[in-house]
Amino acid sequence: MSFRTVYWSRGSVVLLDQRLLPHRVRYLRLTTVRQVARAIKDMAVRGAPAIGVTAALGLALEASKIRGGSVGEALRRMEKAAELLRSTRPTAVNLFWAIDRVMRVARSCGSVRELREKVLDEALRILEEDLEMNKSIGRNGAKLIEDGDTILTHCNAGALATAGYGTALGVIRAAVEEGKRVRVYASETRPRLQGARLTVWELMRDGIPVKLITDNMAAFLMQRGEVDKVVVGADRILAKTGHVINKIGTLSHAIAAKRFEIPFMVAAPTSTIDFERTPEEVEIEERDPREVLYVGRERIAPRGVEVWNPAFDITPPDLVTYIITEKGVHRPWELEGLLAKHRGE
Ligand code: MRU
Repeated sequence: MSFRTVYWSRGSVVLLDQRLLPHRVRYLRLTTVRQVARAIKDMAVRGAPAIGVTAALGLALEASKIRGGSVGEALRRMEKAAELLRSTRPTAVNLFWAIDRVMRVARSCGSVRELREKVLDEALRILEEDLEMNKSIGRNGAKLIEDGDTILTHCNAGALATAGYGTALGVIRAAVEEGKRVRVYASETRPRLQGARLTVWELMRDGIPVKLITDNMAAFLMQRGEVDKVVVGADRILAKTGHVINKIGTLSHAIAAKRFEIPFMVAAPTSTIDFERTPEEVEIEERDPREVLYVGRERIAPRGVEVWNPAFDITPPDLVTYIITEKGVHRPWELEGLLAKHRGE
């Protein structure tokens, strides 16, 4: 991979600023947890695993600044930083998973020095594990891809959305690495255009054939028999019910795929699985109306119009053919088994 999405360098968090892609490749060097929180909220970094990794590194940044004082004071400062990071985006479960994981380590430390070191180690481990998990997801998912397949993907579930390699795009990359010829359709993903700006950018850099469509072209493309498989990522998968929460527009693709009998696959690490909630209990992020009112700097609707701008939708399990994780390929109803393992039953 010729770029890095997020990494730790000389005491700061470094991010590829995804708001500027594909036109400019610029890295942000963040030195405070406030800057990290802002970068997540403003989507300089986005994608469920990537925001989890970034939040973990944000906590390491906060820990690195704590010198002196008691471990109790240090922990209170860490809890405040964790709260700030939790308030950035409500839907992707990886954010909360990564923060909880780092905070568990912080709470186990007996000294400020130990806390500084162990929090950084844990954050770096989360980053490395994410990359490894994506490679495994890729290998597991590539078994479902045939030579000559045309794959539709939505939003960006690629290297930019993770610590590297990607989930949905990881499946595509792994299939290509196995020598399979694959073509991709990327839907543009209004309103933030992650498909047009990011997925197309990533795939073109890798030399994987990709064609861009607007979101409302997908059903017609499927009806014409031009799509063999749909592969997307997820922000949250509900183990209890098998529902998949992902970028707004995923549900429409899933309904169309069902209608035209096209396998609909979701690729995500187990850190995306929510073992607790039902669909009614998940907060779907609603973002600034300006994302809908403007395309780039151009306003496209009359002043005074009302806007609804949910960032994600919920796809029911009967529309999902496979869920691909680093552990294997599952049917939505089989997640109950992972749930039992998670509870240690
Ligand atoms: O709003 P975004 O860009 O953070 O949404 C991203 C998605 O919906 C991705 O499909 C999802 O996070 C999976 S990324 C591997």
